[in-house]
Amino acid sequence: MMRLSLRFIIPLALALGGIAYGVVPLVDELTLKWFVHDLDIRAKLVATAAQEPLVEMLTDKSRDKVRLEHIQAYFDRMLQDERLYAIGFCDNAGKLVYKTATLPAGIGCGYPGPGVEDRGIVVKLHGGPLHVVTTPILENGSRLGDMIIVHDMSFVERRSADTRKYIVYLFAALGGLIALITVVIAELSFRGWMAGIKTLIRGQSLALSPQPKARELRPIARDLEALVHDLDNERRARDEAQITWTPDALRTILREDLKGDEILIVSNREPYIHERREGRIEVRRPASGLVTALEPVMRACSGTWIAHGSGNADRDVVDASDSVAVPPEKPAYRIRRVWLTKEEEAGYYYGFANEGIWPLCHIAHTRPVFRASDWECYREVNRRFARAVESESRTDDPIVLVQDYHFALLPRMIRERLPRATIITFWHIPWPNPEAFGVCPWRDELLEGLLGSSILGFHTQFHCNNFFDTVDRYLEARVDRETFTISYGGEPTEVHRYPISIEWPPTALAQQAPVAECRERVRREFGIPPETRLGVGVDRLDYTKGILERFAAVERLLERDPEWVGRFSFIQVAAPSRSSIEEYQLLDARVRSAAQRINQRFGTPSCQPIVLAIEHYDGAQVYELYRAADLCFVSSLHDGMNLVAKEFVAARDDERGALILSQFTGAARELPEALIVNPYDTEECAEALRQALAMPPDEQRSRMRRMRSLVQEFNVYRWAGRMLLDAARVRQRRHLSRRAGTAGAPRIIGLRRA
Ligand code: F6P
Repeated sequence: MMRLSLRFIIPLALALGGIAYGVVPLVDELTLKWFVHDLDIRAKLVATAAQEPLVEMLTDKSRDKVRLEHIQAYFDRMLQDERLYAIGFCDNAGKLVYKTATLPAGIGCGYPGPGVEDRGIVVKLHGGPLHVVTTPILENGSRLGDMIIVHDMSFVERRSADTRKYIVYLFAALGGLIALITVVIAELSFRGWMAGIKTLIRGQSLALSPQPKARELRPIARDLEALVHDLDNERRARDEAQITWTPDALRTILREDLKGDEILIVSNREPYIHERREGRIEVRRPASGLVTALEPVMRACSGTWIAHGSGNADRDVVDASDSVAVPPEKPAYRIRRVWLTKEEEAGYYYGFANEGIWPLCHIAHTRPVFRASDWECYREVNRRFARAVESESRTDDPIVLVQDYHFALLPRMIRERLPRATIITFWHIPWPNPEAFGVCPWRDELLEGLLGSSILGFHTQFHCNNFFDTVDRYLEARVDRETFTISYGGEPTEVHRYPISIEWPPTALAQQAPVAECRERVRREFGIPPETRLGVGVDRLDYTKGILERFAAVERLLERDPEWVGRFSFIQVAAPSRSSIEEYQLLDARVRSAAQRINQRFGTPSCQPIVLAIEHYDGAQVYELYRAADLCFVSSLHDGMNLVAKEFVAARDDERGALILSQFTGAARELPEALIVNPYDTEECAEALRQALAMPPDEQRSRMRRMRSLVQEFNVYRWAGRMLLDAARVRQRRHLSRRAGTAGAPRIIGLRRA
């Protein structure tokens, strides 16, 4: 700054000083004219004042000598005026008859010449300028002679020199001042630019950071921001596409991009449940897409998975810190179990999460139930998990992967305890529009809680957009849809789409027999004749899955195309779920009775149209079913993603089979080669069943091939890897900001009614 200022101020001051020198002669000339004019007037005054006494003395009849003395004395008195330099008098013959001793020799009668009487001229004699005026002395109109009045002009020179000096000083000072002001203004706007550019280089949204101070910078900043964002996305897509997504790729990201940083996962459902059966402890894997997706990440990073210990033998196998190493056959990470009482589980899990948020977020026309007591439990349990996260983290900036709607309040609670943590929350279910979400009495608290996350993920862009709209509607937050960021009370939250998927190749596929064998075995097991065409559905027994709609489509097919009666059977596996909730009990009853009714209507001694298995199937059993089937029917009324669709595709390495897929699943956006249906439209679904059963092998193959390649490419490692890469980016940016000293400690806001 100093150097810059000197480089600028000094030349400008000099330049102005130079200009001043150019101006001075003009000023000199002008002031000289004014002074000469002044002296002309003054000389006239002197002449007028001297006129009368002088005439009197000149016409005195005394002797010449006396007259001479009088006039001489009079002239000498006049010279007491310090400006008057000399006086003389010439008679009409042009002879200098009287003069003061100071009159220079060069000035005499006839000077300065005819025509310039009464007008002074300037002469330079004896080194100093003199102003000389010759004016006639008249008596009654007749001329007695001429009086020469000489003024000293050396004061003019002195004044001129002073003026010249002050003008130069003034210009130089002015130059310095202008330069200084310019440098200060330039410096301030330079800083604004630099701050703006630094912000952009860090990849932050300018909309989030303080606005560039210079108004004129804002449009440029916006363009730059959009450019950086596009480049970022492009780079992200390119990097992502170049990676072969395997557990090894995840390990590499964890090692290289995250430098082995600590990872914690929080979910309600635990990946391994210990249960006591007939005196023995068994380990069960729950029917959960979430668990399937995250287990490989945990295996790769050896972190800690914090979950509700729900198995009846869970307490028997944990150590003093409530932890157990898993997988049992080859331990790779720890589960830290959090214990809940029956009442807490009822209020938090069954109540607020599954009777409140679940129907709130799924448009399946089941009314959500909100009870204040459930909300209290939900808050308390979220707090309990926040404490567990704090006590489990070995560092003050772990990466915490918060899973699902059971923990909407948890991100902000973690942020309050571990302000430097990178919190990635994934919402595994749909996010509805603002009107639908707005009926929740605690909607603002849920939104505030989620906005404690560094990154918030949904399966589809549609759900991200609904979330943006909801925040926009209900909170005073800055929603930037261009950079997918929401700023609310502290660290910004990025909202992105991360479509979940399955592992590739699926572990369950490795143990599978060839397709022909699976077909034969499944038919045998279910008592279905070998030639019968087979459809499958595999779900949790949940009203969002559209199981009744699926049965209605099977019924309609048999009604419409009786040729399929006795030749087509549909196996529905429905894992019991949330069975202490009344809606689920009702659904159980309805599903059983619908299956019974259809079977009574269209069953034959050897073939039941609906084979209902309300029980838990493990991965190997489910994959065998997929391989045995001619079609798989996913008819969810609303589903974040639906992994059954992807599993069916993954199971069919023979490239055969047809997938019927509800348009209301996230998967439908990724698998357009499926037969896409509206599950509410029974006719359309029946037609899709018919089309699937009649689909030629070539068409099956080409559709299946494309779907398989998509699932292979966008597998679960990519889902997790993209989130981890984004976490690495967020952390890197924060480290850089800290180093640049621009990152303030995140402002923590308290939950309103927490
Ligand atoms: O679909 C949301 C989800 O949390 C899934 O991730 C999981 O498969 C399912 O619900 C499990 O539900 P629950 O834990 O209630 O049995």
